[in-house]
Amino acid sequence: MRHRRPSARFRRKVWLDGNDKCDTILDYINSHNLKLEWILDTHPHADHFSAAGYLKAKTGVPTAIGGRVKQVQRIWQRIYNFSDLPCDGSQWDRLFCDGETFNIGELEARVTHSPGHTLASISYVIGDAAFIHDTLFMPDSGSARADFPGGSAADLWQSIQDILSLPGETRLFTGHDYRPGGRQALWESSVAEQKEKNQHVAGQSRSAFIRLREARDRALPMPRLMLHALQVNIRGGELPQVEENGLRYLKIPLNALPHRRISDELDGSLQQFLRAIASGSLIGCTLGPIG
Ligand SMILES: [Fe+2]
Repeated sequence: MRHRRPSARFRRKVWLDGNDKCDTILDYINSHNLKLEWILDTHPHADHFSAAGYLKAKTGVPTAIGGRVKQVQRIWQRIYNFSDLPCDGSQWDRLFCDGETFNIGELEARVTHSPGHTLASISYVIGDAAFIHDTLFMPDSGSARADFPGGSAADLWQSIQDILSLPGETRLFTGHDYRPGGRQALWESSVAEQKEKNQHVAGQSRSAFIRLREARDRALPMPRLMLHALQVNIRGGELPQVEENGLRYLKIPLNALPHRRISDELDGSLQQFLRAIASGSLIGCTLGPIG
């Protein structure tokens, strides 16, 4: 196991959460005599660390993601100035194309491109279930943001239409739930339910959805862990290499957020960050050992 014990500061916010949940899943698999066949990513996450590297290190099971991850790697390679990062998706064992099928035991799984939240996003349709990550959330929460680099509200609308073209009884498993009003966490809906009740989509036109989505995104802060997580997630969840002093480092672009303190409180407008990238004023530094 290559992951070393991280600092308490990062552990509190990231690793305890990530690894504990993964270990719970692995314990469930073992205690029910199940066989893990794939570690499937839907997209490079911007708000939390991918567990794919951790799970692969513990199980040896192959990883997979959508083939367009190569484009996402190129976007973030430039932002982080990672000149040595291979942008060929080789960090995963398999890269899926739109419409490709593969087997999980006797089940056939089908991959569908569902860009918008990121340009590399894919969904997995398996039997009467579809794993739709950050496209539609639960009906009372609407849809996922579409303002990350390579994201597009128009693409998200089309991806949602593709999902809603599945049979009405298809079970939809969503990627996040923000529990509006403090209600209990939920994760499963159906195509019919989303068509009828989704507050961003039901009864909306394409142009109205795009307007609504883009207006909401302009008001959303940058995810607190985006700059920390993406440099790991575009490597398939592998932590940066240990340096000569035995520590690992994350790299944080500093002047993308000129009026903010670079610390655990890192926060700011994603639009402000993207403008800094576009203007070429981005520089980088390394921040904080994580292992
Ligand atoms: Fe996401």
